[in-house]
Amino acid sequence: IKKIGVLTSGGDAPGMNAAIRSVVRTCAYHNIGCVGIYRGYQGMIEGDFKEMGPRSVNNIVNKGGTILKSARSREFMTPEGRKKAFDNIKKAEIDSLVVIGGDGSFTGAEVFNSEFDIPVIGIPGTIDNDIFGTSFTLGYDTALNTVIDVIDKIRDTASSHNRLFFVEVMGRDAGHIALNAGIGAGAEEILIPESDLGLERLLDSLKKSKLSGKSSSIVVIAEGDKIGKNVFELKDYVESNLPEYDVRVSVLGHMQRGGAPSCFDRVLASRLGVRAVETLLEGKSNFMVGILGDKITLTPLEQAIKGHSEIDRELLRVSEIMSI
Ligand code: F6P
Repeated sequence: IKKIGVLTSGGDAPGMNAAIRSVVRTCAYHNIGCVGIYRGYQGMIEGDFKEMGPRSVNNIVNKGGTILKSARSREFMTPEGRKKAFDNIKKAEIDSLVVIGGDGSFTGAEVFNSEFDIPVIGIPGTIDNDIFGTSFTLGYDTALNTVIDVIDKIRDTASSHNRLFFVEVMGRDAGHIALNAGIGAGAEEILIPESDLGLERLLDSLKKSKLSGKSSSIVVIAEGDKIGKNVFELKDYVESNLPEYDVRVSVLGHMQRGGAPSCFDRVLASRLGVRAVETLLEGKSNFMVGILGDKITLTPLEQAIKGHSEIDRELLRVSEIMSI
């Protein structure tokens, strides 16, 4: 291994910059070259590269987003696109890759490795925390903190007006953000794709909470929830069945992906970056670096892609007890 290419791909996540910095500096520490690839796989296809040394990543450990920019490249899904990408990295003498992203990005890395035998290591970066083989993905902790900050603010106005708020959070296929931020922010109910609460139970629970003396409530809903109604339809449904409720909706959206990474995400990114580069130097390929317990671990990329990151069902019970 003489020169590692590093890229960020898919949805950006706070902590990606700290991971780029870690990869670049670990390369410098071991006296090997490092090239930043811009806009993920699309930049590989277009040859959008820049040599990076330890000073090129000054003052980014604390920055949200990704200085390398990100993209979801359709062209890389075609054999022609991948061939162009390979020709470019060969020309630039890049002999291995560190891919920071989610499972879509890892799938691209795996296919690329199988076609061109370029060693690849993945670093999990997505606010959704939906990757098998790691308890935490980069950006998740920061997103949780962002979400509870906002819900705390929503609670102020909800309680002033005796209102019920539906707060939609990100999580295309996973309820990790909804479940954990929901408990952290004291939500009455949490709706996630992994567990179908059902409309009847939701109405029952809201009725009960009114009777128990609560004057305002927050319901957190993951965008990928399978209750069968979107958050605005849910508002109408609840208002028509429970006229005693005055309901408002807040969709948090992309704000959840921005902002300075938490200390946890910065430390995790630094650890994962070191391990990613050193794993390549040990001659290994096709792994994702992750964290299980407090240990940095390696999971075969294939398992990380195919496996399912389960939610902790005990948290559903905790949430139910807390909302009595
Ligand atoms: O995968 C991360 C994520 O933020 C999801 O929670 C969300 O559904 C999706 O990305 C949004 O993607 P985009 O920014 O491309 O609209």
